[in-house]
Amino acid sequence: MEFLRDYRLPKGLRLEELDLSKSDDLEALARFYCEVWKEPPWLEFHWTYDAVIKYILETSQKIASIWLLIKNQANEIVAFALGYGIDFKDLEQIANRKDAAFYFGEKPMFYDAEVAVMPTYRKQGLATVLIRARIDFARFHDLKVVIARTKAPNAIRAMTKIGFFPTTFTDGSDPERVYWRFDIS
Ligand SMILES: CC(C)(COP(=O)(O)OP(=O)(O)OC[C@H]1O[C@@H](n2cnc3c(N)ncnc32)[C@H](O)[C@@H]1OP(=O)(O)O)[C@@H](O)C(=O)NCCC(=O)NCCS
Repeated sequence: MEFLRDYRLPKGLRLEELDLSKSDDLEALARFYCEVWKEPPWLEFHWTYDAVIKYILETSQKIASIWLLIKNQANEIVAFALGYGIDFKDLEQIANRKDAAFYFGEKPMFYDAEVAVMPTYRKQGLATVLIRARIDFARFHDLKVVIARTKAPNAIRAMTKIGFFPTTFTDGSDPERVYWRFDIS
């Protein structure tokens, strides 16, 4: 993973890219994914293991796509993040509205799709490392703008510290979900 830098992680934890040929990791990631979105403010109880496996495989095929994992010494996945390259048409589909080009122009973009950390590993900077690593991955792919959609206060604090700023572009189906932007220099 030549785009990665030396991120500061707590002792015993390591950052790696999901390898789809490792079925144990794929399965553990899917189980973690199903659980984590049950939390407020998401309250998503509909995720099933099979649907998530399909989602992971599909998103892995996208342009400039990456699933990042943080693992502990027992080789358990304690945090994950997904990001992939998008154009403004993709963003319109994600955001359920038709005017993304007006807000974002036609610059090559990277979408920060998901980030989650196991409850017992939170507040140690893991999400911050994952968000920074995604920016470095996007830069490596020559993408110019990173977009993230959220309404989670913890994620907003971490993004703000990194340098994301909120746009006035909100989700067409959930206006509380604001799109945040980071311009890659
Ligand atoms: C949102 C989420 C990913 C944040 O993960 P996290 O690893 O706890 O985030 P970070 O540790 O990087 O940053 C959060 C806080 O920890 C603080 N922190 C970072 N390193 C720290 C350390 N070594 N010691 C103490 N605090 C630290 C950060 O400064 C930040 O503090 P603040 O909230 O007071 O500003 C996590 O809460 C989560 O998985 N939630 C459920 C899923 C979710 O909502 N995901 C976001 C969807 S958009």
